[in-house]
Amino acid sequence: MTKVVKLDRDNPDINLIDEAASILLNGGLVAFPTETVYGIGANSLNPDAVAKIFIAKGRPQDNPLILHISEFQDLFKYAKNVPNDALKLARQFWPGPLTMIFEKSDIVPSINTAGMNTVAIRMPSNKIAHTLIKRAGIPVSAPSANLSGKPSPTDASHVISDLYGRVDMIIDGGSCDVGVESTVVDMTGEIPTILRPGGITKEMIMGVVGSVEVDPIVYKKPSLDVKPKSPGMKYKHYSPDAEVYIVKGNIGDVIKKIQELTEFQLNNGKKVGIMATEQTCEKYRNGEVLVVGNRERPETIAKNLFRCLREFDKKGVDVVYAEGFDYDEIGLAIMNRLEKAAGYKEINV
Ligand code: TXA
Ligand code: MG
Repeated sequence: MTKVVKLDRDNPDINLIDEAASILLNGGLVAFPTETVYGIGANSLNPDAVAKIFIAKGRPQDNPLILHISEFQDLFKYAKNVPNDALKLARQFWPGPLTMIFEKSDIVPSINTAGMNTVAIRMPSNKIAHTLIKRAGIPVSAPSANLSGKPSPTDASHVISDLYGRVDMIIDGGSCDVGVESTVVDMTGEIPTILRPGGITKEMIMGVVGSVEVDPIVYKKPSLDVKPKSPGMKYKHYSPDAEVYIVKGNIGDVIKKIQELTEFQLNNGKKVGIMATEQTCEKYRNGEVLVVGNRERPETIAKNLFRCLREFDKKGVDVVYAEGFDYDEIGLAIMNRLEKAAGYKEINV
């Protein structure tokens, strides 16, 4: 049985938080909101509890989890050789949507790290998440609370549709602010390296530590012969049931191309979805048009991206044409998730 509880994101009922905390301490699973996406949490220090996460999600065992902490000092319990740059980044961006990879300490059970000698750590800022971890008094391992392969959940309704009956509790704390998963930065090398772009952008990290690299896997389709540093990046993620194509280029040409393609597909009896923006939506006369956000405020696009992908599935469209975006700032995270949803299929005009 799954208990669903609703909590006020700014002022969560502490009795319900404590009930969730005791589920975690008893080896159970709790799905909870964070500022990025919803997570499915277990006590990191209990290998049997962590094992349940992989089963509930249908997640491959070789994909490691993020340990979520609530106190800065806990970083040193679970990570070894924390470099100075990491302290600077933590001071600036924690609590918040930044995950850092370190050498793991011996007390982190290896099921969390898929046997690797590194560990991913993040301190979430969402008040429900933060309070839950603090009251439980343990680190909480939490991947995104979707079935493996589905878009990450940014609303409790997504979690309920994927995980109801598979976890002990689902906390409904409303919709997530950032909408894409945390930025993952490898801190074990000479220069911090972004393995997964997110709400803390390359530009923001650069502003604090001066130099940062972006792992090539962020930009291109993973090939079978390259072993990615972040195992999660090799899986086809975030994919809706429909075939997704990104149409890239000058926005005027993109609109024309999508109009043409939509016409063609409709004539072939296909149901077409169009992922448009506030600036462009009125140009499309045919197809199921969803507005993902405002081009002038790309954070709105990040926030709504996964919800839109799930809505296209609900509408039962066969094909989705998505307008492309610039790769700078939060655009890097948006395009990375869109490319994965599209299986890297794009049309350049
Ligand atoms: O925003 C988020 O990070 C959400 C919320 C719930 O906190 N969590 C999340 O977890 O997205 P998950 O498991 O869906 O993604 C974690 C990513 C995966 O790509 C995984 O491969 C990578 O982090 N990762 C975890 N540990 C790692 C490690 N030791 N080295 C390299 N990559 C690691
Ligand atoms: Mg995930």
